[in-house]
Amino acid sequence: MKEYKRYMVTSALPYANGPVHIGHLAGVYVPADIYARYLRLRGRDVVFVGGSDEHGVPITIKARKEGVSPKEIVDRYHALIKESFERFGISFDVYSRTTSAIHHQTASDFFKTLYEKGCFVEKETEQYYDEEAQQFLADRYITGVCPYCRNERAYGDQCEQCGTSLNPIDLINPRSALSGSVPVMRATKHWYLPLENYDSFLRKWILEEHKEWKPNVYGQCKSWLDLGLQPRAVTRDLDWGIPVPIEGAEGKVLYVWFDAPIGYISNTRELLPDTWQDYWKSDDSCIVHFIGKDNIVFHCIIFPAMLKAEGSYVLPRNVPANEFLNLENDKISTTRNWAVWLHEYLDDFPGKEDVLRYVLTANAPETKDNNFTWKDFQDRNNNELVAIYGNFVNRTMVLTHRYFNGKTPETSLWTDVDRETMQEIALIREKVENALENYRFREALKEAMSLARLGNKYLADAEPWKIIKTDEARTRTILNLALQLTTNMALLFEPFLPFSSAKLKNMLRLPDIPWERIGESDLLPAGHELNKPVLLFEKVEDDAIEKQLQRLGSLKTTNAQQDCKAAPAKPDILFDEFSTIDIRTGTILEAAKVPKTDKLMKLLVDTGIDKRTIVSGIAPYFTPEELPGKQVSVVVNLAPRTLKGVVSQGMLLLAEDADGKLVFVVPERAVANGSTIS
Ligand code: 2FM
Ligand code: ZN
Repeated sequence: MKEYKRYMVTSALPYANGPVHIGHLAGVYVPADIYARYLRLRGRDVVFVGGSDEHGVPITIKARKEGVSPKEIVDRYHALIKESFERFGISFDVYSRTTSAIHHQTASDFFKTLYEKGCFVEKETEQYYDEEAQQFLADRYITGVCPYCRNERAYGDQCEQCGTSLNPIDLINPRSALSGSVPVMRATKHWYLPLENYDSFLRKWILEEHKEWKPNVYGQCKSWLDLGLQPRAVTRDLDWGIPVPIEGAEGKVLYVWFDAPIGYISNTRELLPDTWQDYWKSDDSCIVHFIGKDNIVFHCIIFPAMLKAEGSYVLPRNVPANEFLNLENDKISTTRNWAVWLHEYLDDFPGKEDVLRYVLTANAPETKDNNFTWKDFQDRNNNELVAIYGNFVNRTMVLTHRYFNGKTPETSLWTDVDRETMQEIALIREKVENALENYRFREALKEAMSLARLGNKYLADAEPWKIIKTDEARTRTILNLALQLTTNMALLFEPFLPFSSAKLKNMLRLPDIPWERIGESDLLPAGHELNKPVLLFEKVEDDAIEKQLQRLGSLKTTNAQQDCKAAPAKPDILFDEFSTIDIRTGTILEAAKVPKTDKLMKLLVDTGIDKRTIVSGIAPYFTPEELPGKQVSVVVNLAPRTLKGVVSQGMLLLAEDADGKLVFVVPERAVANGSTIS
């Protein structure tokens, strides 16, 4: 791997409008921290930058909701986020904030430079304005009816019911979320970065010169470039942010995505007032941005175009963006509280920082979206950290204390098994390094774990406890090698599991040993005294997992209740009227899509009375293959209707879930076809 003189490791600045959750950690902060720790251990010159993103509309929305100022919101969450990162061992060299004076100055100067170089295009456009609140409306501040699904509470940028991206102008019956009044169109001037002018530079730089980037990152960049780049407004009409530093721009601020990435630079300036330029403006510097997939366009296209326009900065070498992490098979959502919050985890699982670091790395969404489940968390802790790594270390330490007074025993003759084990130890460092330098953190951790597996196997096969009485010399050799293995583990796991490595190094009373010595089998001299063993990892019991699942379970119920905007009840009917409807249980025998329709499925259903054809609008939710064998409830006396040329003899009962997906209404357990439902 090419070695650079300096490394600048950045991690996406989280919005200070809520706490940090496991999705942020798995996507950005854990891999960035592993990488930064690894580089430091290699003796490289590295600066690891973080900070809170404190501008933008989401912050102002949160503030309005709570009836407090945006400043109050960002102060609260910046403090919470910073503290929880510290407790979790994210080893930032600086964690600052975009409301700092140095950042306002840096971002403002950056804008001015581009402005003076003539890099912007000034444009006047019509935008929604709230005459009552006397301000232009950010897209999120406009609500109305979705033209696609008729949801009455769609936002100017998106309808959350049908997921369609919208422009405020698309909304039917638009309303200002600030005052409830009908907004009017008003002309406003903004500054645009004409991204299309950077097209050939970006194509060459990314598509030709960075073919090694992760396929998800490269692919997303390629599709953006292929779609054709458009001018991007870099200013906004908003009263929260960095004022646009030119005449005629009163009341306008820099777009949050213009100032946020400059935050990496400002925070470096704050840390290193004299030498920050070495990291940002020198060719022998390696800048790496750790981000989630929703940030790719900003870090690979817009920010590089800004840097290129400015002219004195170097570009990032890599942007190893991750995909998303789901929680118990559902999308993590701050608004729905569907998340494992870092500060809550730290309170609920004290001393188990490394367990979460381990699980999030072993299961990192590096190439595709992944899922976090509490069961997997428990299994990985109990079956991997406790049963493999912890068990090996504990046995080695306990036996050394029991047989040799806690002193590293001397070796006599190495056997073939010992030599083979040593050879394997010697190979692992390079594999870990190679994976880490290529941003494959899961693989790196797996390789490190193979050292623990190797140790466990070595001890289980050698069984020193069986030969201590008959062959003390051999026992000494075995435990010596087991201790060398333990020392290797303490060093190799350090970037991944820093708390456990610190504990283990203390147990072993390790002096400073350079990373490069990992792989050697004579790291501890004979006679080296060890401290008393303490458990590296402890079992996670069922009740701790139950507690977490219960919290999520009750949240699911609350969310479903909130999501369910139930339609009002229809007018009352008499029992006799209801009892004219004949509903039976049945089973689907065959299913096929009705040609030339999107929604209709033609089904052959065994109703217990007969086998009949029913046409149902379920094609968007099921494949024909998964339907045969499913039990259903059928209205069997509905008069036949012809749908797209097919006669439908009855109707299936279906319920709509919170996402609008249809699900079958069926008896609690399977009953015979033709059973009456009443
Ligand atoms: O998506 C986000 O959470 C943004 N706050 C990330 C900003 S990254 C950088 F540009 F600051
Ligand atoms: Zn919609």
